[in-house]
Amino acid sequence: MAKNDPKPTTNDAGNPVASDEFSLTVGPDGPILHQDHYLMEQMANFNREMIPDRQPHAKGSGAFGHFEVTRDVSAYTRAKLFQPGAKTDVLARFSTVAGEAGSPDTWRDVRGFALKFYTEEGNYDMVGNNTPVFFVRDPMKFQHFIHSQKRRADSGLRDHDMQWDFWTLSPETAHQVTILMSDRGVPKTYRHMNGYTSHTYMWVNAKGERFWVKYHFKTDQGIEFLTDEEADRMAGTDPDLHRRDLHEAIKRGDHPSWTLKVQIMPFKDAENYRFNPFDLTKIWPHSDYPLQEVGRLTLNRNPSDFHTEIEQAAFEPNSFVPGIGPSPDKMLLARLTSYSDAHRARLGVNYKQIPVNRPKSQVNSYSKGGRMRFENVSDPVYAPNSKGGPQADPKRYPEDAVWSASGDFIRAAYTLRKDDDDFIQPGTLVREVMDDAQRDRLVSNVVGHLKKGVSEPVLERALDYWRNIDKDIGERIAKGVKQG
Ligand code: NDP
Ligand code: HEM
Repeated sequence: MAKNDPKPTTNDAGNPVASDEFSLTVGPDGPILHQDHYLMEQMANFNREMIPDRQPHAKGSGAFGHFEVTRDVSAYTRAKLFQPGAKTDVLARFSTVAGEAGSPDTWRDVRGFALKFYTEEGNYDMVGNNTPVFFVRDPMKFQHFIHSQKRRADSGLRDHDMQWDFWTLSPETAHQVTILMSDRGVPKTYRHMNGYTSHTYMWVNAKGERFWVKYHFKTDQGIEFLTDEEADRMAGTDPDLHRRDLHEAIKRGDHPSWTLKVQIMPFKDAENYRFNPFDLTKIWPHSDYPLQEVGRLTLNRNPSDFHTEIEQAAFEPNSFVPGIGPSPDKMLLARLTSYSDAHRARLGVNYKQIPVNRPKSQVNSYSKGGRMRFENVSDPVYAPNSKGGPQADPKRYPEDAVWSASGDFIRAAYTLRKDDDDFIQPGTLVREVMDDAQRDRLVSNVVGHLKKGVSEPVLERALDYWRNIDKDIGERIAKGVKQG
Protein backbone atom coordinates (compact mmCIF):
# COMPACT_ATOMS: atom_id res chain seq x y z
CA MET A 1 0.00 0.00 0.00
CA ALA A 2 1.41 3.40 -0.97
CA LYS A 3 1.87 5.95 1.83
CA ASN A 4 -1.03 8.20 0.79
CA ASP A 5 -3.52 5.47 -0.12
CA PRO A 6 -6.82 5.76 1.83
CA LYS A 7 -7.29 3.11 4.50
CA PRO A 8 -9.17 0.07 3.21
CA THR A 9 -12.84 -0.37 4.11
CA THR A 10 -13.38 -3.39 6.33
CA ASN A 11 -16.38 -5.12 7.78
CA ASP A 12 -16.93 -4.91 11.54
CA ALA A 13 -14.54 -7.80 12.07
CA GLY A 14 -11.81 -5.78 10.40
CA ASN A 15 -11.69 -7.93 7.25
CA PRO A 16 -11.00 -5.82 4.13
CA VAL A 17 -13.95 -5.82 1.72
CA ALA A 18 -13.92 -5.69 -2.08
CA SER A 19 -16.57 -3.04 -2.77
CA ASP A 20 -18.44 -0.14 -1.16
CA GLU A 21 -20.75 -0.05 -4.18
CA PHE A 22 -21.72 -3.44 -5.49
CA SER A 23 -23.35 -6.45 -3.89
CA LEU A 24 -22.19 -9.91 -4.87
CA THR A 25 -24.28 -11.17 -7.81
CA VAL A 26 -24.32 -13.95 -10.39
CA GLY A 27 -22.99 -11.91 -13.30
CA PRO A 28 -23.73 -8.18 -13.51
CA ASP A 29 -27.50 -8.74 -13.97
CA GLY A 30 -27.97 -11.87 -11.89
CA PRO A 31 -29.48 -12.42 -8.43
CA ILE A 32 -27.72 -11.42 -5.23
CA LEU A 33 -25.87 -14.24 -3.53
CA HIS A 34 -26.93 -15.13 -0.02
CA GLN A 35 -23.28 -15.52 0.86
CA ASP A 36 -22.80 -11.75 0.63
CA HIS A 37 -22.50 -11.47 4.40
CA TYR A 38 -21.01 -7.99 4.07
CA LEU A 39 -24.23 -6.74 2.47
CA MET A 40 -26.12 -8.60 5.19
CA GLU A 41 -24.04 -6.87 7.89
CA GLN A 42 -24.72 -3.47 6.29
CA MET A 43 -28.49 -4.07 6.19
CA ALA A 44 -28.73 -5.68 9.60
CA ASN A 45 -26.67 -3.00 11.35
CA PHE A 46 -28.71 -0.28 9.68
CA ASN A 47 -31.91 -1.87 10.99
CA ARG A 48 -30.51 -1.70 14.51
CA GLU A 49 -29.01 1.80 14.49
CA MET A 50 -31.86 3.35 16.41
CA ILE A 51 -32.21 2.77 20.14
CA PRO A 52 -35.30 3.70 22.16
CA ASP A 53 -35.59 7.38 23.01
CA ARG A 54 -35.56 8.52 26.59
CA GLN A 55 -39.23 8.51 27.64
CA PRO A 56 -39.23 12.15 28.68
CA HIS A 57 -36.35 14.44 27.66
CA ALA A 58 -35.79 12.67 24.32
CA LYS A 59 -34.49 15.72 22.42
CA GLY A 60 -31.30 17.09 23.82
CA SER A 61 -27.74 18.10 23.32
CA GLY A 62 -24.59 17.73 25.32
CA ALA A 63 -20.97 18.67 25.79
CA PHE A 64 -18.02 18.04 28.05
CA GLY A 65 -16.13 20.38 30.35
CA HIS A 66 -15.13 20.79 33.94
CA PHE A 67 -16.25 22.14 37.28
CA GLU A 68 -13.85 24.24 39.36
CA VAL A 69 -14.37 25.17 42.99
CA THR A 70 -13.95 28.91 43.63
CA ARG A 71 -15.13 29.21 47.27
CA ASP A 72 -14.59 27.07 50.36
CA VAL A 73 -17.79 25.20 51.28
CA SER A 74 -16.02 22.45 53.21
CA ALA A 75 -17.90 23.54 56.35
CA TYR A 76 -21.01 22.07 54.72
CA THR A 77 -19.86 19.07 52.70
CA ARG A 78 -16.92 16.72 52.59
CA ALA A 79 -17.69 15.81 48.95
CA LYS A 80 -14.29 15.87 47.27
CA LEU A 81 -15.56 17.61 44.16
CA PHE A 82 -16.58 20.62 46.28
CA GLN A 83 -13.32 20.95 48.26
CA PRO A 84 -11.11 24.03 47.70
CA GLY A 85 -8.99 23.70 44.56
CA ALA A 86 -10.90 20.72 43.15
CA LYS A 87 -11.38 20.54 39.37
CA THR A 88 -13.62 17.75 38.04
CA ASP A 89 -14.43 16.58 34.52
CA VAL A 90 -18.11 16.95 33.64
CA LEU A 91 -20.59 15.86 30.98
CA ALA A 92 -23.67 18.07 30.54
CA ARG A 93 -26.86 17.28 28.66
CA PHE A 94 -29.61 19.83 28.12
CA SER A 95 -33.00 18.79 26.79
CA THR A 96 -36.65 19.53 26.25
CA VAL A 97 -39.11 17.30 28.10
CA ALA A 98 -42.17 16.42 26.06
CA GLY A 99 -40.97 16.43 22.45
CA GLU A 100 -39.58 13.44 20.59
CA ALA A 101 -35.95 13.14 19.49
CA GLY A 102 -36.60 15.14 16.28
CA SER A 103 -38.90 17.77 17.77
CA PRO A 104 -38.12 21.51 17.54
CA ASP A 105 -35.88 22.91 20.26
CA THR A 106 -38.05 26.00 20.64
CA TRP A 107 -41.37 24.47 21.66
CA ARG A 108 -42.40 25.99 25.01
CA ASP A 109 -41.27 23.48 27.61
CA VAL A 110 -39.15 23.04 30.70
CA ARG A 111 -35.49 22.28 29.86
CA GLY A 112 -33.46 19.50 31.42
CA PHE A 113 -30.08 20.41 32.92
CA ALA A 114 -28.25 17.15 33.64
CA LEU A 115 -24.63 16.92 34.81
CA LYS A 116 -22.35 13.98 35.34
CA PHE A 117 -19.28 14.78 37.48
CA TYR A 118 -16.53 12.17 37.02
CA THR A 119 -15.14 12.42 40.57
CA GLU A 120 -12.37 10.41 42.23
CA GLU A 121 -15.08 8.74 44.34
CA GLY A 122 -17.22 7.69 41.39
CA ASN A 123 -19.80 9.51 39.31
CA TYR A 124 -21.95 12.20 40.85
CA ASP A 125 -25.03 13.02 38.75
CA MET A 126 -27.04 16.19 39.22
CA VAL A 127 -30.17 15.73 37.11
CA GLY A 128 -32.01 19.03 37.28
CA ASN A 129 -34.04 21.43 35.17
CA ASN A 130 -33.89 25.09 34.13
CA THR A 131 -36.62 25.80 36.69
CA PRO A 132 -36.31 25.76 40.49
CA VAL A 133 -39.60 23.88 41.04
CA PHE A 134 -41.66 21.11 39.43
CA PHE A 135 -45.28 20.48 38.44
CA VAL A 136 -46.16 17.82 41.01
CA ARG A 137 -44.98 16.84 44.47
CA ASP A 138 -45.88 13.15 44.57
CA PRO A 139 -44.22 10.67 42.17
CA MET A 140 -47.55 8.84 41.78
CA LYS A 141 -48.62 11.75 39.57
CA PHE A 142 -45.44 12.04 37.49
CA GLN A 143 -46.32 9.44 34.88
CA HIS A 144 -49.85 10.90 34.48
CA PHE A 145 -48.38 14.36 34.19
CA ILE A 146 -45.98 13.34 31.40
CA HIS A 147 -48.77 11.50 29.55
CA SER A 148 -50.86 14.68 29.62
CA GLN A 149 -48.04 16.71 28.06
CA LYS A 150 -47.23 14.24 25.28
CA ARG A 151 -49.63 12.74 22.74
CA ARG A 152 -53.23 11.53 22.81
CA ALA A 153 -53.91 7.82 22.47
CA ASP A 154 -56.46 8.21 19.63
CA SER A 155 -55.03 10.76 17.21
CA GLY A 156 -51.40 10.74 18.29
CA LEU A 157 -51.69 14.52 18.56
CA ARG A 158 -50.52 16.79 21.33
CA ASP A 159 -53.48 18.43 22.99
CA HIS A 160 -53.60 21.65 25.02
CA ASP A 161 -56.97 20.63 26.46
CA MET A 162 -55.34 17.55 27.98
CA GLN A 163 -52.47 19.64 29.35
CA TRP A 164 -54.73 22.20 31.04
CA ASP A 165 -57.10 19.48 32.22
CA PHE A 166 -54.26 17.92 34.21
CA TRP A 167 -52.81 21.24 35.38
CA THR A 168 -56.10 22.72 36.57
CA LEU A 169 -57.04 19.53 38.44
CA SER A 170 -53.60 19.64 40.09
CA PRO A 171 -53.25 23.10 41.65
CA GLU A 172 -49.74 22.26 42.86
CA THR A 173 -48.68 22.80 39.23
CA ALA A 174 -49.40 26.57 39.46
CA HIS A 175 -45.85 27.68 40.29
CA GLN A 176 -44.18 25.67 37.55
CA VAL A 177 -46.87 26.54 34.98
CA THR A 178 -46.36 30.24 35.76
CA ILE A 179 -42.64 29.86 35.09
CA LEU A 180 -43.30 27.78 31.98
CA MET A 181 -45.66 30.42 30.55
CA SER A 182 -43.20 33.22 31.41
CA ASP A 183 -40.09 34.18 29.43
CA ARG A 184 -38.28 31.22 31.01
CA GLY A 185 -40.48 28.80 29.01
CA VAL A 186 -38.43 29.30 25.82
CA PRO A 187 -34.77 30.11 26.49
CA LYS A 188 -32.92 31.79 23.63
CA THR A 189 -30.35 28.99 23.73
CA TYR A 190 -29.22 26.38 26.21
CA ARG A 191 -26.39 28.76 27.09
CA HIS A 192 -28.84 31.43 28.22
CA MET A 193 -30.66 29.54 30.94
CA ASN A 194 -30.01 28.66 34.58
CA GLY A 195 -29.94 25.15 35.98
CA TYR A 196 -31.38 24.09 39.34
CA THR A 197 -31.40 20.90 41.37
CA SER A 198 -34.96 21.94 42.15
CA HIS A 199 -34.97 19.27 44.86
CA THR A 200 -33.45 19.76 48.26
CA TYR A 201 -30.46 17.50 48.90
CA MET A 202 -28.39 16.75 51.98
CA TRP A 203 -24.79 17.76 52.48
CA VAL A 204 -22.67 16.18 55.21
CA ASN A 205 -19.36 17.67 56.34
CA ALA A 206 -16.23 15.92 57.65
CA LYS A 207 -17.59 16.07 61.21
CA GLY A 208 -20.78 14.31 60.17
CA GLU A 209 -22.91 17.48 60.48
CA ARG A 210 -25.86 17.61 58.11
CA PHE A 211 -27.30 20.48 56.05
CA TRP A 212 -30.09 20.82 53.50
CA VAL A 213 -29.01 22.31 50.17
CA LYS A 214 -30.43 23.55 46.86
CA TYR A 215 -28.15 24.23 43.87
CA HIS A 216 -28.52 27.10 41.41
CA PHE A 217 -26.32 27.11 38.30
CA LYS A 218 -26.56 30.73 37.16
CA THR A 219 -25.73 31.28 33.51
CA ASP A 220 -22.72 33.55 32.96
CA GLN A 221 -24.11 34.36 29.51
CA GLY A 222 -27.15 36.09 31.07
CA ILE A 223 -30.78 35.00 30.88
CA GLU A 224 -32.22 35.51 27.39
CA PHE A 225 -35.43 34.19 25.89
CA LEU A 226 -37.43 33.95 22.67
CA THR A 227 -40.92 35.37 22.33
CA ASP A 228 -43.71 33.04 21.22
CA GLU A 229 -43.50 34.47 17.70
CA GLU A 230 -39.73 34.03 17.48
CA ALA A 231 -39.96 30.52 18.91
CA ASP A 232 -42.66 29.49 16.42
CA ARG A 233 -40.62 30.89 13.54
CA MET A 234 -37.46 29.09 14.64
CA ALA A 235 -39.39 25.83 15.09
CA GLY A 236 -40.05 26.03 11.34
CA THR A 237 -36.76 27.40 10.09
CA ASP A 238 -34.22 25.84 12.48
CA PRO A 239 -35.71 23.12 14.65
CA ASP A 240 -32.22 22.22 15.95
CA LEU A 241 -31.44 25.81 16.94
CA HIS A 242 -30.33 25.03 20.49
CA ARG A 243 -28.31 21.97 19.55
CA ARG A 244 -26.61 23.94 16.79
CA ASP A 245 -25.96 26.94 19.03
CA LEU A 246 -24.24 24.90 21.74
CA HIS A 247 -22.15 22.97 19.24
CA GLU A 248 -21.09 26.05 17.29
CA ALA A 249 -20.34 28.15 20.37
CA ILE A 250 -17.99 25.48 21.73
CA LYS A 251 -16.45 24.94 18.30
CA ARG A 252 -15.55 28.62 17.95
CA GLY A 253 -14.06 28.68 21.46
CA ASP A 254 -16.92 30.63 23.06
CA HIS A 255 -17.14 28.27 26.02
CA PRO A 256 -20.35 28.68 28.03
CA SER A 257 -20.12 28.73 31.81
CA TRP A 258 -22.39 28.73 34.83
CA THR A 259 -21.64 29.88 38.39
CA LEU A 260 -22.83 27.38 40.97
CA LYS A 261 -24.43 28.95 44.00
CA VAL A 262 -26.15 27.09 46.82
CA GLN A 263 -28.74 27.81 49.43
CA ILE A 264 -27.91 26.10 52.71
CA MET A 265 -30.52 25.36 55.37
CA PRO A 266 -29.32 24.13 58.77
CA PHE A 267 -30.60 20.60 59.38
CA LYS A 268 -32.84 21.59 62.30
CA ASP A 269 -34.55 24.49 60.45
CA ALA A 270 -36.46 22.05 58.27
CA GLU A 271 -38.59 20.84 61.15
CA ASN A 272 -40.34 24.13 61.82
CA TYR A 273 -39.92 26.09 58.60
CA ARG A 274 -43.17 27.80 57.64
CA PHE A 275 -43.72 25.51 54.65
CA ASN A 276 -42.39 22.07 53.83
CA PRO A 277 -38.85 22.74 52.56
CA PHE A 278 -38.83 19.41 50.71
CA ASP A 279 -41.92 20.21 48.64
CA LEU A 280 -40.66 20.34 45.05
CA THR A 281 -43.28 22.91 44.00
CA LYS A 282 -41.65 25.55 46.21
CA ILE A 283 -38.46 27.60 46.29
CA TRP A 284 -36.72 28.81 49.42
CA PRO A 285 -36.83 32.64 49.35
CA HIS A 286 -33.36 34.11 48.93
CA SER A 287 -34.05 36.42 51.88
CA ASP A 288 -34.32 33.37 54.17
CA TYR A 289 -31.47 31.37 52.62
CA PRO A 290 -29.10 33.55 50.56
CA LEU A 291 -27.09 32.21 47.66
CA GLN A 292 -23.48 31.28 48.39
CA GLU A 293 -20.98 30.77 45.59
CA VAL A 294 -19.30 27.38 45.17
CA GLY A 295 -17.64 27.26 41.76
CA ARG A 296 -17.86 27.42 38.00
CA LEU A 297 -18.99 24.91 35.37
CA THR A 298 -17.45 25.42 31.92
CA LEU A 299 -18.23 23.45 28.76
CA ASN A 300 -15.36 23.32 26.28
CA ARG A 301 -15.54 20.10 24.26
CA ASN A 302 -18.13 18.85 21.81
CA PRO A 303 -18.92 15.16 21.50
CA SER A 304 -17.20 13.48 18.58
CA ASP A 305 -19.95 10.84 18.22
CA PHE A 306 -23.35 12.13 19.27
CA HIS A 307 -24.89 8.67 19.58
CA THR A 308 -22.10 7.12 21.60
CA GLU A 309 -21.51 10.03 23.95
CA ILE A 310 -24.84 11.84 24.25
CA GLU A 311 -27.63 9.44 23.26
CA GLN A 312 -26.03 6.71 25.34
CA ALA A 313 -25.36 8.98 28.31
CA ALA A 314 -27.23 7.75 31.36
CA PHE A 315 -27.81 10.22 34.18
CA GLU A 316 -29.30 9.06 37.47
CA PRO A 317 -30.06 11.10 40.57
CA ASN A 318 -29.09 8.12 42.75
CA SER A 319 -25.40 8.50 41.84
CA PHE A 320 -24.17 10.23 45.00
CA VAL A 321 -20.67 10.63 46.41
CA PRO A 322 -19.72 10.66 50.10
CA GLY A 323 -20.84 13.98 51.61
CA ILE A 324 -23.99 14.27 49.45
CA GLY A 325 -27.30 12.46 49.85
CA PRO A 326 -31.04 12.69 49.31
CA SER A 327 -33.71 14.55 51.28
CA PRO A 328 -37.23 13.44 52.25
CA ASP A 329 -38.61 14.94 48.98
CA LYS A 330 -40.90 12.12 47.77
CA MET A 331 -40.25 12.99 44.12
CA LEU A 332 -36.52 12.68 44.60
CA LEU A 333 -36.86 9.42 46.49
CA ALA A 334 -38.83 7.93 43.58
CA ARG A 335 -36.32 9.22 41.07
CA LEU A 336 -33.58 7.32 42.91
CA THR A 337 -34.89 4.08 41.39
CA SER A 338 -36.66 5.23 38.21
CA TYR A 339 -33.63 6.31 36.20
CA SER A 340 -31.43 3.24 36.56
CA ASP A 341 -34.46 1.15 35.58
CA ALA A 342 -34.91 3.34 32.47
CA HIS A 343 -31.24 2.86 31.56
CA ARG A 344 -31.40 -0.91 31.94
CA ALA A 345 -34.40 -0.92 29.60
CA ARG A 346 -32.94 1.54 27.09
CA LEU A 347 -29.24 0.67 27.12
CA GLY A 348 -28.93 -2.68 28.87
CA VAL A 349 -27.86 -3.81 32.31
CA ASN A 350 -24.19 -2.98 31.72
CA TYR A 351 -24.87 0.64 30.69
CA LYS A 352 -22.30 1.89 33.21
CA GLN A 353 -19.56 0.24 31.15
CA ILE A 354 -20.35 2.41 28.10
CA PRO A 355 -17.34 4.76 28.08
CA VAL A 356 -19.35 7.97 28.60
CA ASN A 357 -20.99 6.49 31.70
CA ARG A 358 -17.94 4.70 33.05
CA PRO A 359 -16.54 6.26 36.22
CA LYS A 360 -12.99 7.57 35.90
CA SER A 361 -12.29 6.14 39.37
CA GLN A 362 -11.79 2.45 40.05
CA VAL A 363 -14.91 0.25 40.21
CA ASN A 364 -14.69 -2.56 42.78
CA SER A 365 -18.26 -3.84 42.67
CA TYR A 366 -19.52 -7.40 42.96
CA SER A 367 -21.73 -7.13 39.85
CA LYS A 368 -21.07 -9.74 37.19
CA GLY A 369 -22.43 -11.09 33.97
CA GLY A 370 -25.27 -9.59 31.96
CA ARG A 371 -25.49 -8.68 28.30
CA MET A 372 -22.67 -6.69 26.73
CA ARG A 373 -20.37 -6.78 29.74
CA PHE A 374 -16.91 -6.22 28.32
CA GLU A 375 -14.84 -5.49 31.39
CA ASN A 376 -13.52 -8.66 32.96
CA VAL A 377 -14.73 -9.61 36.40
CA SER A 378 -12.24 -11.20 38.78
CA ASP A 379 -12.72 -13.57 41.69
CA PRO A 380 -13.93 -13.56 44.38
CA VAL A 381 -17.44 -12.75 43.12
CA TYR A 382 -19.11 -12.85 46.54
CA ALA A 383 -18.87 -11.18 49.93
CA PRO A 384 -17.99 -11.84 52.64
CA ASN A 385 -14.90 -13.67 51.44
CA SER A 386 -11.45 -14.52 52.72
CA LYS A 387 -9.88 -14.18 49.27
CA GLY A 388 -8.90 -10.51 49.27
CA GLY A 389 -12.04 -9.09 47.66
CA PRO A 390 -13.15 -5.47 48.25
CA GLN A 391 -14.67 -4.69 51.64
CA ALA A 392 -17.18 -1.96 52.48
CA ASP A 393 -15.78 0.24 55.23
CA PRO A 394 -18.46 1.91 57.39
CA LYS A 395 -15.81 3.88 59.32
CA ARG A 396 -14.45 5.50 56.19
CA TYR A 397 -17.76 5.69 54.36
CA PRO A 398 -20.53 5.84 56.98
CA GLU A 399 -24.18 5.85 55.87
CA ASP A 400 -24.54 9.36 57.26
CA ALA A 401 -26.81 11.15 54.76
CA VAL A 402 -29.86 10.00 56.71
CA TRP A 403 -32.73 11.31 58.81
CA SER A 404 -35.24 9.66 61.11
CA ALA A 405 -38.89 8.95 60.36
CA SER A 406 -41.78 7.10 61.95
CA GLY A 407 -45.47 6.51 61.28
CA ASP A 408 -47.95 4.03 59.91
CA PHE A 409 -47.87 3.01 56.24
CA ILE A 410 -50.23 5.44 54.55
CA ARG A 411 -51.03 7.06 51.18
CA ALA A 412 -51.43 10.77 51.90
CA ALA A 413 -50.29 14.27 51.02
CA TYR A 414 -47.47 15.92 53.00
CA THR A 415 -48.63 17.28 56.38
CA LEU A 416 -49.70 20.88 55.77
CA ARG A 417 -47.82 23.75 57.36
CA LYS A 418 -48.84 27.41 57.69
CA ASP A 419 -47.62 28.62 54.25
CA ASP A 420 -48.17 25.40 52.32
CA ASP A 421 -50.32 27.06 49.70
CA ASP A 422 -50.06 26.37 45.99
CA PHE A 423 -50.66 29.96 44.90
CA ILE A 424 -48.50 32.10 47.25
CA GLN A 425 -45.19 31.65 45.42
CA PRO A 426 -46.46 31.96 41.84
CA GLY A 427 -48.38 35.06 42.99
CA THR A 428 -45.15 36.54 44.37
CA LEU A 429 -43.37 35.76 41.11
CA VAL A 430 -46.03 37.51 39.04
CA ARG A 431 -46.47 40.53 41.31
CA GLU A 432 -43.02 41.14 42.80
CA VAL A 433 -40.43 39.64 40.44
CA MET A 434 -41.87 40.27 36.97
CA ASP A 435 -42.00 43.76 35.49
CA ASP A 436 -44.86 45.09 33.35
CA ALA A 437 -43.38 43.86 30.07
CA GLN A 438 -42.86 40.35 31.51
CA ARG A 439 -46.44 40.30 32.82
CA ASP A 440 -47.73 41.39 29.40
CA ARG A 441 -45.85 38.56 27.71
CA LEU A 442 -47.09 36.09 30.36
CA VAL A 443 -50.70 37.07 29.65
CA SER A 444 -50.17 36.87 25.91
CA ASN A 445 -48.43 33.45 26.13
CA VAL A 446 -51.23 31.99 28.28
CA VAL A 447 -53.98 33.43 26.10
CA GLY A 448 -52.28 32.04 22.97
CA HIS A 449 -51.91 28.62 24.61
CA LEU A 450 -55.51 28.47 25.85
CA LYS A 451 -56.84 29.47 22.46
CA LYS A 452 -55.30 26.39 20.88
CA GLY A 453 -58.00 23.82 21.58
CA VAL A 454 -58.84 24.27 25.26
CA SER A 455 -62.60 23.84 25.69
CA GLU A 456 -65.14 23.91 28.56
CA PRO A 457 -65.11 22.91 31.35
CA VAL A 458 -61.31 22.99 31.29
CA LEU A 459 -61.21 26.57 30.01
CA GLU A 460 -63.21 28.05 32.90
CA ARG A 461 -61.11 26.08 35.36
CA ALA A 462 -57.98 27.51 33.71
CA LEU A 463 -59.26 31.06 34.15
CA ASP A 464 -59.97 30.39 37.84
CA TYR A 465 -56.51 28.85 38.20
CA TRP A 466 -54.96 32.12 36.98
CA ARG A 467 -57.30 34.24 39.13
CA ASN A 468 -55.98 32.22 42.10
CA ILE A 469 -52.40 32.97 41.11
CA ASP A 470 -53.16 36.67 40.66
CA LYS A 471 -56.60 38.24 40.35
CA ASP A 472 -55.56 40.92 37.88
CA ILE A 473 -53.57 38.58 35.64
CA GLY A 474 -56.51 36.14 35.74
CA GLU A 475 -58.94 38.83 34.58
CA ARG A 476 -56.61 39.93 31.81
CA ILE A 477 -56.26 36.33 30.61
CA ALA A 478 -60.07 35.88 30.74
CA LYS A 479 -60.53 39.05 28.68
CA GLY A 480 -57.91 37.96 26.17
CA VAL A 481 -59.45 34.52 25.73
CA LYS A 482 -62.98 35.90 25.36
CA GLN A 483 -61.90 38.46 22.78
CA GLY A 484 -61.72 35.52 20.40
P1 NDP B 1 -35.83 37.19 44.72
O1 NDP B 1 -36.28 38.52 44.20
O2 NDP B 1 -34.64 37.12 45.61
O3 NDP B 1 -35.55 36.17 43.52
C1 NDP B 1 -36.34 36.17 42.40
C2 NDP B 1 -35.78 35.13 41.45
O4 NDP B 1 -36.68 35.02 40.38
C3 NDP B 1 -34.43 35.39 40.86
O5 NDP B 1 -33.64 34.28 41.16
C4 NDP B 1 -34.67 35.47 39.34
O6 NDP B 1 -33.75 34.77 38.61
C5 NDP B 1 -35.94 34.69 39.23
N1 NDP B 1 -36.81 35.00 38.10
C6 NDP B 1 -37.02 36.15 37.45
N2 NDP B 1 -37.95 35.98 36.48
C7 NDP B 1 -38.33 34.70 36.55
C8 NDP B 1 -39.25 33.91 35.82
N3 NDP B 1 -39.97 34.41 34.83
N4 NDP B 1 -39.38 32.61 36.15
C9 NDP B 1 -38.66 32.09 37.15
N5 NDP B 1 -37.78 32.77 37.87
C10 NDP B 1 -37.63 34.07 37.57
O7 NDP B 1 -37.13 36.59 45.41
P2 NDP B 1 -37.43 35.30 46.28
O8 NDP B 1 -36.26 34.43 46.52
O9 NDP B 1 -38.18 35.76 47.46
O10 NDP B 1 -38.44 34.54 45.31
C11 NDP B 1 -39.58 35.22 44.81
C12 NDP B 1 -40.13 34.41 43.67
O11 NDP B 1 -39.13 34.31 42.67
C13 NDP B 1 -40.46 32.97 44.05
O12 NDP B 1 -41.77 32.83 44.52
C14 NDP B 1 -40.22 32.24 42.78
O13 NDP B 1 -41.41 32.24 42.01
C15 NDP B 1 -39.16 33.04 42.05
N6 NDP B 1 -37.84 32.40 42.09
C16 NDP B 1 -37.18 32.24 43.28
C17 NDP B 1 -36.03 31.50 43.31
C18 NDP B 1 -35.39 31.16 44.61
O14 NDP B 1 -34.66 30.18 44.66
N7 NDP B 1 -35.61 31.91 45.67
C19 NDP B 1 -35.41 30.97 42.09
C20 NDP B 1 -36.11 31.31 40.89
C21 NDP B 1 -37.30 31.95 40.93
P3 NDP B 1 -32.41 35.42 37.97
O15 NDP B 1 -31.44 35.46 39.07
O16 NDP B 1 -32.02 34.49 36.94
O17 NDP B 1 -32.79 36.75 37.42
C1 HEM C 1 -35.26 12.07 32.26
C2 HEM C 1 -38.30 9.91 35.34
C3 HEM C 1 -38.82 14.08 37.75
C4 HEM C 1 -35.14 15.91 35.21
C5 HEM C 1 -36.09 11.16 32.85
C6 HEM C 1 -36.26 9.80 32.41
C7 HEM C 1 -37.09 9.20 33.28
C8 HEM C 1 -37.48 10.16 34.26
C9 HEM C 1 -37.57 7.74 33.25
C10 HEM C 1 -35.61 9.19 31.19
C11 HEM C 1 -34.25 8.69 31.61
C12 HEM C 1 -33.48 8.09 30.46
O1 HEM C 1 -34.02 7.26 29.72
O2 HEM C 1 -32.27 8.42 30.31
C13 HEM C 1 -38.68 10.84 36.28
C14 HEM C 1 -39.55 10.57 37.41
C15 HEM C 1 -39.72 11.75 38.07
C16 HEM C 1 -38.93 12.76 37.36
C17 HEM C 1 -40.15 9.22 37.74
C18 HEM C 1 -40.51 12.09 39.29
C19 HEM C 1 -41.04 11.21 40.11
C20 HEM C 1 -37.84 14.92 37.31
C21 HEM C 1 -37.49 16.17 37.92
C22 HEM C 1 -36.44 16.67 37.22
C23 HEM C 1 -36.15 15.75 36.15
C24 HEM C 1 -38.16 16.75 39.15
C25 HEM C 1 -35.66 17.93 37.44
C26 HEM C 1 -35.51 18.50 38.62
C27 HEM C 1 -34.87 15.02 34.21
C28 HEM C 1 -33.85 15.25 33.21
C29 HEM C 1 -33.88 14.14 32.36
C30 HEM C 1 -34.92 13.26 32.85
C31 HEM C 1 -32.93 16.46 33.10
C32 HEM C 1 -33.00 13.92 31.14
C33 HEM C 1 -31.65 13.40 31.56
C34 HEM C 1 -30.74 13.29 30.36
O3 HEM C 1 -30.35 14.35 29.82
O4 HEM C 1 -30.44 12.17 29.93
N1 HEM C 1 -36.87 11.37 33.99
N2 HEM C 1 -38.32 12.16 36.29
N3 HEM C 1 -37.01 14.69 36.22
N4 HEM C 1 -35.49 13.83 33.96
FE1 HEM C 1 -36.90 13.00 35.12
